Amino acid sequence: MKNHIPVLLDEVIKGLNLKENYNVIDATLGGGGHSEKILEKISPNGILIGVDLDDNAIKLARNKLNKFESRAILIKENYKNLKKIIHEQYPNIQIHGVLLDLGLSLYQLQDTNRGFSFLNDKFSMKFDENSDGEDAQEIINSYAQEKLEKIFKEFGEEKLSSQIAKEIVNHRNNSTIKTSKELAEIIERVYKKFYRQKSKIHPATKVFQALRIYINKEFDNIKSFLRDAIDILETGGRLTVITFHSLEDRIVKQIFKDEACDCICPKNFPKCVCDHRARIKIINNKVIIPSEKEIRENAASRSAKLRIIEKL
Ligand SMILES: C[S@@+](CC[C@H](N)C(=O)[O-])C[C@H]1O[C@@H](n2cnc3c(N)ncnc32)[C@H](O)[C@@H]1O
Repeated sequence: MKNHIPVLLDEVIKGLNLKENYNVIDATLGGGGHSEKILEKISPNGILIGVDLDDNAIKLARNKLNKFESRAILIKENYKNLKKIIHEQYPNIQIHGVLLDLGLSLYQLQDTNRGFSFLNDKFSMKFDENSDGEDAQEIINSYAQEKLEKIFKEFGEEKLSSQIAKEIVNHRNNSTIKTSKELAEIIERVYKKFYRQKSKIHPATKVFQALRIYINKEFDNIKSFLRDAIDILETGGRLTVITFHSLEDRIVKQIFKDEACDCICPKNFPKCVCDHRARIKIINNKVIIPSEKEIRENAASRSAKLRIIEKL
């Protein structure tokens, strides 16, 4: 199994503006790649609280971060609950930095039991395998055509949403779609009907992205987490967010824009009625992207975008 390489590592560390003994939250622990570097930077006494929904990620990160002993606190949780956890369990810790690194880890992609890749036998796509709610296989085999189409359009911006949804429904009238491989092949067939040329990315990329976002409620989680993270941060603390596609980045950009404004009233209001006050300063107006060297060494980083803000 290949190791997950942390994306934009130097840029994240610089963006967090870390100092000795700072306390930091890594809301998407994954393999602990970013966390390891953060813990080195905040030594000797700084604490890292690392969160992930995935049992396996917690296990892998624990192996990597054991050497930091009690300075690495690892919690299996949804980052959307982090504010409550900090208030209830760590009320006296001042938080100086937060990292959110969205998307999948390479470990999850390579795990053939999860269904995140196009070649898997199983087909769940849940970050937390034990969570309630429908998994990818149930959705693909039971949702009405219109509902599937809406998911592919809204969360994947898939141009062939309607044709793909129709083909899925036709296929399952004959036999259940049991694996992610089967679904990817159905989508490939639809693409071949409409496009002669091969696309740069796998034709199933957007549908898989859409399913993952829908199943794990990713956009709702991001929206509530970003505001909570700003609440939790100390004045001068930094929040760094890495996104991997334009839908995610748009959400982050809009929330940061609102939070950096003294007024969020609609433009046509004659005077301000919102009483909104800026809580953050935007550190980079232009997103930070990986260097050519990083993309060459780690193709998974190619669509990454980093945004950084500071709490006022
Ligand atoms: C891109 S990986 C993080 C990689 C990590 N920064 C590293 O360098 O190893 C994203 C991680 O976020 C986790 N994740 C996704 N949604 C989550 C949520 N709502 N709460 C907690 N963890 C989540 C995934 O399970 C995955 O392990």
